[in-house]
Amino acid sequence: MRRPKISVIGAGFVGSTCAHWAASKELGDVVLVDINGEAARGKALDLFESSPVEGFDSKVEGGSDYSLTRDSDVVIITAGLPRKPGMSRDDLLSINAKIVRDCATHTAKHSPDAVMIIVSNPLDAMCHVALSASGFPRERVLGMAGVLDSARFRSFIAMELSVSVEDVQAFVFGGHGDTMVPMPRYVSVGGIPLQQLLSQEKIDAIVERTRKGGAEIVNLLKTGSAYYAPSASAIQMAEAIVRNKKRYLPCAVYLTGEYGIKNLFCGVIAKLGSKGLESIPSLELSSDEKAMFNKSAAAVQELVDAIAKLGV
Ligand code: LAC
Repeated sequence: MRRPKISVIGAGFVGSTCAHWAASKELGDVVLVDINGEAARGKALDLFESSPVEGFDSKVEGGSDYSLTRDSDVVIITAGLPRKPGMSRDDLLSINAKIVRDCATHTAKHSPDAVMIIVSNPLDAMCHVALSASGFPRERVLGMAGVLDSARFRSFIAMELSVSVEDVQAFVFGGHGDTMVPMPRYVSVGGIPLQQLLSQEKIDAIVERTRKGGAEIVNLLKTGSAYYAPSASAIQMAEAIVRNKKRYLPCAVYLTGEYGIKNLFCGVIAKLGSKGLESIPSLELSSDEKAMFNKSAAAVQELVDAIAKLGV
């Protein structure tokens, strides 16, 4: 039986760590592509050489040529410049739009049936670029941000309560930026609503820390942005797709009227399976949640309009 094939575009920290998680989970064969083909080849070879020690059975290849990615099931696009301290995700807009357009065009040519997972920033706007460059249906262009932002939200809740992360279920809606919308009302800690465990003040502080979670890591690393949690999050989406798990995961999807938002990528809960996006459950939002979600969608729309103006 043919094994699933997962290609990762961009062999920087996020891309190579995606390859690492994908291979070590034996999701399938893994390809790492970068404009620096030797670096991609070197990292792929190094990762493959860890497999006899770790005991995973995944082929890992790397290079600069997209023909390596031919007929991938999932292609994860991580290429682009990361944020430096003081830089907003939006500063990256025009540079990364050109890079993502190029990656998505090549991806569509070599893997016309793949599901694309976009990781490059500013995330929601880059999803628009990938959707238009690939010509793929919305079911097969997804943005990774919600799983990451929710993982941070879950981590901070677990830290505050000194409980296992295993018991914390939580998600974040909206764009991947300062206006993202963590949803405390829907948090469950071992089945207990968060509001019964923490004061509103503590919850507000966690929400704020979640919104700035990416910047917190950038400020500590100084020379780049987070990569363990972003890559683990992209691979959780890839796993849901290649194993047809039908998982409810928060991610950026192209909304066509859901939650009153049209023709815009924004983070919501989506059901992911082998076809990519399979459905979008409709959640009840309070008027406050709806207002925050609309504000976040407006911030994404501004970036999309800016790209259109730049003509990238
Ligand atoms: C972050 C970057 C990757 O949130 O957007 O860490």
